[in-house]
Amino acid sequence: MGSRRWVAAAAAAMVAFLLLSAASHGGRRGPSFNSNNRTFVFNYTLAKTIVEYASAVYMTDLTALYTWTCSRCNDLTKGFEIRCIIVDIQNCLQAFIGVDHNLNAVIVAIRGTQENSVQNWIKDLVWKQVDLNYPNMPDAKVHTGFYSAYNNTLLRPAITNAVRKARRLYGDISIIVTGHSMGGAMASFCALDLAISLGSDTVHLMTFGQPRIGNAALCLLL
Ligand SMILES: *[C@@H]1O[C@H](CO)[C@@H](O)[C@H](O)[C@H]1NC(C)=O
Ligand SMILES: *[C@@H]1O[C@H](CO)[C@@H](O)[C@H](O)[C@H]1NC(C)=O
Ligand SMILES: *[C@@H]1O[C@H](CO)[C@@H](O)[C@H](O)[C@H]1NC(C)=O
Repeated sequence: MGSRRWVAAAAAAMVAFLLLSAASHGGRRGPSFNSNNRTFVFNYTLAKTIVEYASAVYMTDLTALYTWTCSRCNDLTKGFEIRCIIVDIQNCLQAFIGVDHNLNAVIVAIRGTQENSVQNWIKDLVWKQVDLNYPNMPDAKVHTGFYSAYNNTLLRPAITNAVRKARRLYGDISIIVTGHSMGGAMASFCALDLAISLGSDTVHLMTFGQPRIGNAALCLLL
């Protein structure tokens, strides 16, 4: 991936930054966010850093990723402490979890499938009503393919587990979930899931070039 492509993705793509506050406990939060206030304020500085994570997760050299020496592991993300890389070979998915000490946040970055195999998921284009088991959202419908790619693979348990561990170590710090394209779609489900399962009001989502994932009822929940 050339860096120009990523800069273009960052600049031109729809960037969603949703503040998920499933449980509004007024708890602690990171310094750069405004958690109890759903007003969206686009922060370009923050986006430039987060897009580095969203692109680094595409790296196939796992050693370079694990030691944070990959070509995308640059100054903006210096000092990033990677904690876990998840590779679901069967479904061609990849994700990493780590701690950005500058942002004082747990970072979750999710990669969609590579260009060819994305078709495997997208072919399931039927908008089915799936039972999300989340409170107060009886009418919410989601894209079954993207949802399954997150919910019914290694990603969901492995990410939840790693995030819990990181927070046990560093306390109740913010969580920023990111991804590009299909990875962005899965990142959205991941952020929703974490906000609900961890009862957290400190889950933030920033995606790049993300396809639509659900209907209007789902948006109300987000
Ligand atoms: C939300 O934040 C914005 C920008 O910081 C501020 O102007 C607005 O008054 C806040 N709204 C509430 C309800 O706190
Ligand atoms: C934008 O994000 C950066 C990095 O997190 C932070 O230092 C800065 O204060 C933020 N700016 C605003 C206006 O929130
Ligand atoms: C999501 O995963 C849970 C736990 O594995 C499972 O019980 C549930 O049926 C899944 N939901 C969908 C809609 O596939």
